[in-house]
Amino acid sequence: MSVINVAILGFGTVGEGVYRTIQSHSNELAAELGKEVEVAAVLVRNKQKPRDISGNVLLTTDFEEILQLPKLDVVIECIVDKDPTFSYLKKAIQRGCHIITANKEMFAHHGNELIELAEQHQVSVGFEATVAGGIPVIQTLGQLLKINRVQRILGILNGTSNFILTEMRDKRQSFAESLLRAQENGYAEADPTNDVEGYDAFYKTMILSRLAFGEEPDWRDVERVGITSITSELIEAAQNLGLRFKHIASIWKSGTRIQASVKPVLVGSEHPFYHVEGVENAVNVKSDIVGEITLQGPGAGMYPTASAIIEDLVHVCQSHVPKSNYLKTSGEDIELKNEHQRE
Ligand code: NDP
Ligand code: HSE
Repeated sequence: MSVINVAILGFGTVGEGVYRTIQSHSNELAAELGKEVEVAAVLVRNKQKPRDISGNVLLTTDFEEILQLPKLDVVIECIVDKDPTFSYLKKAIQRGCHIITANKEMFAHHGNELIELAEQHQVSVGFEATVAGGIPVIQTLGQLLKINRVQRILGILNGTSNFILTEMRDKRQSFAESLLRAQENGYAEADPTNDVEGYDAFYKTMILSRLAFGEEPDWRDVERVGITSITSELIEAAQNLGLRFKHIASIWKSGTRIQASVKPVLVGSEHPFYHVEGVENAVNVKSDIVGEITLQGPGAGMYPTASAIIEDLVHVCQSHVPKSNYLKTSGEDIELKNEHQRE
């Protein structure tokens, strides 16, 4: 059987999950693709860390070494930050590889450029893992709701924030303890400010907006509030009234304009997100033909994210990836006002 050679960039929570899943589901992959999937290389920052990698895999800190492999079909990116990730993925496309990314910060900034470049080089871009972890929302909006006119989207898009709010309420844990548990479980970003201040959900919201509406609001007009002001006292007071805090992203059309916000909202038991708890995410789509659909499931963590990526692996190899909707947008690269700057 011929082989699909894959490189995995990053071997943290997500990268290791992808590696393990390629091993554990090799039969299913081979049956679907008619080819065996082999991990040819893994890119990391620190080669000295112990890694559970077996066989003939190039473990390297130098992306150029990966590009020079004689055979390389797909590059799966699970590292952090916009740079150098964006430049790595451009080079991978120029080399003729399909790419798959889990990196929403990079993709919200540079997704259009990558998709345009991929079209020029006749390769595909998979980005299911950028939004809502294991929930197949990108395929649903990009492939399965093409004729429906989407009217608005609501989402719980950050697993860490929903996990923290749930732990603070149910287990009466402090914010700091709950965040620590989210980090231990591999849910949080390397810099959890992105989770708790709403940046991560913001990036996901912009990706969904482009996919569903073909455009996104001016980033500077989007209200973005995280969960850091939600105290245990507020959570308890809400609970006494039968209400829960949920961190909700909204995208809607106002006249011809697309608008969005990302902020904590108090919801009652009639709300579709009232029972979305822990690390779960949910996306509620209202469109003109079907009406309302709610997708719900694990929004972060090793295997939910690996699930999104492994399904993308099949889609990119079979060229079933959303693209035309995505490309309708202007492709402007607008920085967030007050964007969090890393040290
Ligand atoms: P981790 O911090 O667990 O792992 C990051 C990995 O990337 C590490 O192996 C690290 O190397 C490597 N790395 C980081 N920077 C570089 C670099 N410049 N060059 C080479 N290797 C690098 O992160 P996650 O696995 O949690 O997240 C990875 C990506 O997936 C992020 O973009 C995140 O937003 C996204 N994501 C995460 C989800 C989750 O549930 N955790 C879910 C969906 C998306 P080393 O091991 O040597 O330190
Ligand atoms: N840190 C992210 C979250 C990972 O908690 O939702 C999944 O994108």
